This record gives sequence, C-alpha cells and structure tokens, in this order.
Amino acid sequence: MSQLNKFKRYTITSALPYANGPLHIGHLAGAYLPADIFVRYLRLKKKEVVYICGSDEHGAAITIKAKKENTTPQAIIDKYHNQIKSSFEEFGIAFDIYHRTSSAIHHDLSQEFFLNLYEKDEFIEKFSEQYYDEDYQQFLADRYIVGTCPNCHNENAYGDQCERCGSSLNPTDLINPISTLSGKPPVLRPTKHWYLPLDKYQPWLEQWIDEKEGSWKVNVFGQCKSWLKSGLQPRSMTRDLDWGIDVPLEEAKGKKLYVWMDAPIGYISATKQWAIDKGKDWKLYWKKQEKEADDACLIHFIGKDNIVFHCIIFPAILHAHGEYILPQNVPANEFLNLEGDKLSTSRNHAVWLHEYLKEFPGKQDELRYVLTSILPETSDSEFTWKDYQARVNNELVAILGNFVNRVMILMHKFYDGKIENGSAQIKLTDGYLNDELGIFYDSLESNLETYRFRQALQSVMDIARLGNRYLTEKEPWKTIKTDPADAKDALHNCLFIIGHLAVCLQPFLPATAKKIFGMLNWPVNDITFDSGIVFANGHRLNPSSLLFEKVEDEIIEKQIQKLHDKKQETAAVEETPITPAKENIDYESFAKMDIRTGTILTAEKVAKTKKLLKLTIDTGIDQRTVVSGIAEFYESEAIIGQKVSILVNLEPREIKGIISQGMILMAEDTAGKLSFVSPVDDLHNGSVVR
Ligand code: MF3
Ligand code: ZN
Repeated sequence: MSQLNKFKRYTITSALPYANGPLHIGHLAGAYLPADIFVRYLRLKKKEVVYICGSDEHGAAITIKAKKENTTPQAIIDKYHNQIKSSFEEFGIAFDIYHRTSSAIHHDLSQEFFLNLYEKDEFIEKFSEQYYDEDYQQFLADRYIVGTCPNCHNENAYGDQCERCGSSLNPTDLINPISTLSGKPPVLRPTKHWYLPLDKYQPWLEQWIDEKEGSWKVNVFGQCKSWLKSGLQPRSMTRDLDWGIDVPLEEAKGKKLYVWMDAPIGYISATKQWAIDKGKDWKLYWKKQEKEADDACLIHFIGKDNIVFHCIIFPAILHAHGEYILPQNVPANEFLNLEGDKLSTSRNHAVWLHEYLKEFPGKQDELRYVLTSILPETSDSEFTWKDYQARVNNELVAILGNFVNRVMILMHKFYDGKIENGSAQIKLTDGYLNDELGIFYDSLESNLETYRFRQALQSVMDIARLGNRYLTEKEPWKTIKTDPADAKDALHNCLFIIGHLAVCLQPFLPATAKKIFGMLNWPVNDITFDSGIVFANGHRLNPSSLLFEKVEDEIIEKQIQKLHDKKQETAAVEETPITPAKENIDYESFAKMDIRTGTILTAEKVAKTKKLLKLTIDTGIDQRTVVSGIAEFYESEAIIGQKVSILVNLEPREIKGIISQGMILMAEDTAGKLSFVSPVDDLHNGSVVR
C-alpha cells in the first residue's frame, strides 16, 4: 500500500447514474466495476472504507424522459431507481449504500450547501439573457437545448456540455441553438441566477491540480489542464426548471438548483444516511479533521464525460465551503464501444445489465472478467460477443477452470481429498513457485493501487498459467507410481497456488473466489491479502465442481442477432437532427394551395437525367404531365397505379423541355430519402387535401 497506505479511512464513490434508464455494460466498465474491484481490494487489506452510490434523480435527463414516456418525473425515478438498484445488487457491486437524490436528507444537505456559500457571499448574482421556448413558455437549461459545439463543432452538443469533446458549456455558447421541446430556435429573455465564480477560484484550482501531476491518470490531468488554460467562467448554480431541489431563497421562488450542484452532494448525503443506519460518524469520511493526517482518502470513479464536474466544479464548491476534504484521485475511464459502434440508449444499441442477468443466470463473473479485461482505462475500447466467447472459453475455462479442476480431481482420486504428509503444517515447498508468487503479489498490488485493473487481472491469470505449467511439468499422474512422495508434494504445491488464486480473485471474481474457497474447505472470512497460506495436516477438501462452462456458438449468435434486430427496430426512430420549424403563416396562405389525391398512370425516366421521372397523373380534374425528382428512389414500373397527393395549382414550369403541371408531395427523411404522401383509404381521384 504505497501512496494509499498513509490513509486511515477511504471514501469511495461511483458516479450516481441518472434514474432515467437501465444500466448497460458501458456504465459498468466506466464507473462501477473498477470501483468495486478497488473497494474489495481495500477491504481485503483490512482498510476502513465506505463505498457510496445512488440514483441521480434531478435535471433535464429525468424530465425529458418523463415527457417521452408520457408520464411524471416521479414515476420515472421510482421505476428506474428500483431497477438499477436491484441490477447492481444482483451483479454484485458491493456498495455500502445505494441512495437517491430525491430523499429529504439530500434536499436538506444540498440547500444547506447553497446557503453556506450564499451567506459567505461566494455567488455572483446576475441577470442575464437566457434562452426561452415561447411555445412551451419555459427557459431552456442544459439538455433542453442543443446546438453546435463552439470547440469541436459537434452538432449535437447540449446546453451545458459537449459530450464529444467534454467541454463544459453555457447555452449561449452554442452555435445555432435549438429547443429540444419545440424544435425551434429559442428567444432570449432576462432572468436572475446565482453563479459560482470559477474564474475567482482558478488560481487555487491550478495549484491544486498541478499537485496531481503524476498521480492522476494522464487523460484526466490533461483535460483539467486544458480547461484551465482556456480560462474558467462563472457557472450558474441555479436553473429555471420545475423539477429539482428548490433554491432556498425567498427571491428565487420557482427556481431549482443546478443538477450538477446537487448530484455530487449526493455522495455526502448518502454517506450521512449510511452513517445513521450503521451508527457511524459521517464526518470522519468527509470533513477535514483536526490533523490533516486523519483526513479520509476520497476517490471518485467516473466516466470521462464527468471529469469537469468532479475535477473542477465540485472541488470548487467543496473548497468554497471550506470544511470538506477534496478528492485524492479521480480515475476516470474512457468509453466502451459495442460491436463497432457507440453504445447508445436511445438507439437501443447496448448490452443491458438486467437482460444479461436474466439470460445468463449465475454468470456474473464471466461478464466481470470480460469487462475487466477490456476496461477503457487509457483509451476507448470495445466489447464484442465473439470476444466474450473467446475470453470465457480460452481463458476462464481453459486456463483458470482447467487448472483448478485438474488438481481437485487428482487430489480426490489419489488421496480421497485429504491433505496429509505427516508434518503438523503443510507449506509451499517449491522455491521457484514461492519466488514467483512474491513477485506476483508486488505487481498485483501496485497495479491495483494505480488503477490498472486490466493488468492486475492479467497477472492473476498468469498465476493460473504458472500453475498449469507446473502441473504439466510435474506429471503427478505418472509419478504417483514411480515417486509417490513427489507426486503428493507437487499436488500440495498446486493447492497453494489455488489458495493464492482464490485470495487474489476476490476483488475481480468474487463468486468464483467463494466457490474455490468452498472446494478448499476454507472459511472465507479468515483469508485476507496478507495472510500466509498453510494447510493443517489432515485437512479435507470438499467435492469439486467445474468453475466455468464453455460458451457455445449459438448463444453468441443469438446475442449478435438480437443487437442487429434492435438496431433495425430503432433505426426508424433514431435521434434525428430536428429540422427547425418555419415561420407561422396565416390560414389564407395555406388555403391558396389546391392539393388533390391522384393516381400515377404512366412513368418514364427523363433522358440524360439521374433523378427525374416524367409522370402522367389522373388528378380527377384531368390527366396531366408532372416531372418529379424521385427516380433515385422508385423504379418507373413499380409506381404505376400509386396513389399520390398532388399540388395542382402550382404555376406550370418547363423542366428539361417538358412542361410540368403541378407537384407530387413527397416526405423526405433525414437521410434524404423521398417517400409518397398518399391517402390511406381508397378515395376517388380529385379528393381535396386540406
Ligand atoms: N448522473 C450523472 C451521469 O450519469 C453522474 C452524476 S455523478 C455525481 O452522467 F457526482 F453528480 F453524482
Ligand atoms: Zn465539443
């Protein structure tokens, strides 16, 4: 425990997921699995640790979802809070508490924080022009507004953040802002808000961040430096919204706290609730102690889109308050992709945790193993089902499972499961194995303490590989006849390796570790990272069973097919960039158009053009010629008899030498594909469209 060793106590947090949808593997790989491994490791080192998480239940993420599902924000958070909580439980993420930001204790603490800063005069109060949707009579904060990011030109940046380049934004920074409510460009209206003067804290932040060079991950440190370099701006901590925590000021009636002000405070309020439940003192985990040496070590596990909030804004709030400790580290992960594409909730391109748990019962450790092997620690990484299959079959089954199984079977076959050689305690006798294990523990611990969980897991697997090699070399199934003492000694040494494997697998594959402890007939609670392993003479092993099953091709093909089908289903409702609405017109302008239903009688390609078809239309009034730009989408033979809508009083125009009398109405999707707008029922030609 190199750097971490100086702390008495640890406060570990994983980002609070928005309670607006189920969890997928991207969440797990970002902020939960790494934290869980880390926490389990600390506990094995007998450290005092509290592991905190909960649902983030405010902000536009929730209200927008409620609107989509035609229900209330309360119904949304209740539904997803419960679903997320039980998925985490079943998956085995070992939170000490999974709380929620809609709780009273959290509302109180958030308001207390706000008032503390308010009374210290930390906020800048400012009237400013903010975007407002006139149709919906609502100010447009954060996710209610999209536009082009001024930094990276991503066209789908939110009003508070660009998820592509990670920069934090104000709505007025966006180029071509559009309301996500009405799809229209918003107007500006004055409103008063309370701003956190990040510019004022900049010198302090710079110094604090600079101290982290070398101990923070380079991606995290680099992002912070680059924001500081571009200069921090005051950031509003209040919003004109109707869902959230009330701003506790008389003059701010109807306004709510910014969700990124309240959510991180959720870590603290959750700790408070845990302390109440367990009879602990929450202040030991969050407040500065009399002696700095007694401060707890605070570590935030997050995904990279949360860096600015955990490394700049929340520390600034804690600093302004003054009584709180600051994070020692913020080991943010990059993103996980799936089968060559970004994970996406709205496009349903994801492996959902609750579905995995249902379809792969008892196989939590398989998913933990694969995800830990591919954690996006330093750059984005990718999950594929084929890789899942390969890692389970070629690593878990063929290396780890195989080694444990071979040793157990031989022990039962040759010695009836009894470890016995006449000495009082049975110890590892092979010097080489002993040295290898020593080196292994050093590197395992240093990898775990520097958040290199992929590497750490690989080194555990190396121990299983070492075991396989040793067993193959020793060939106890042969020497049992020629040199029975050597055979026994070799198998006992293998049992030591299995014991060490079980100990070290605990943070990564807790269920597997438990199974191995069961087979070794060891009480789990007695074993920590630092306890030496010995067997008493005469110790009896329990019957053994296979640790892992091979994943068959059909299983994988089914999953790949499922992803493919979902993609097809949702392709139609894909997040389409909204075409801005046009100016209002009066009814007279509309009524001037004479639109009729008609039928295509003939169709032929216009020579020397790619797009044009020459059509004869029965309009009910007459039969006339119309030139239409649909040749890329429809074969001429295929559309004879097609019902259409046609604007019949459009001024005739000459197109490629043909007089076109009218215009066929076509709908155009975002990909530019055209499709007929035709009556659903069998109307007679010439029916008026109005
Ligand atoms: N709900 C946020 C997200 O999913 C994370 C909140 S983390 C907290 O991006 F610190 F604010 F709690
Ligand atoms: Zn950007």
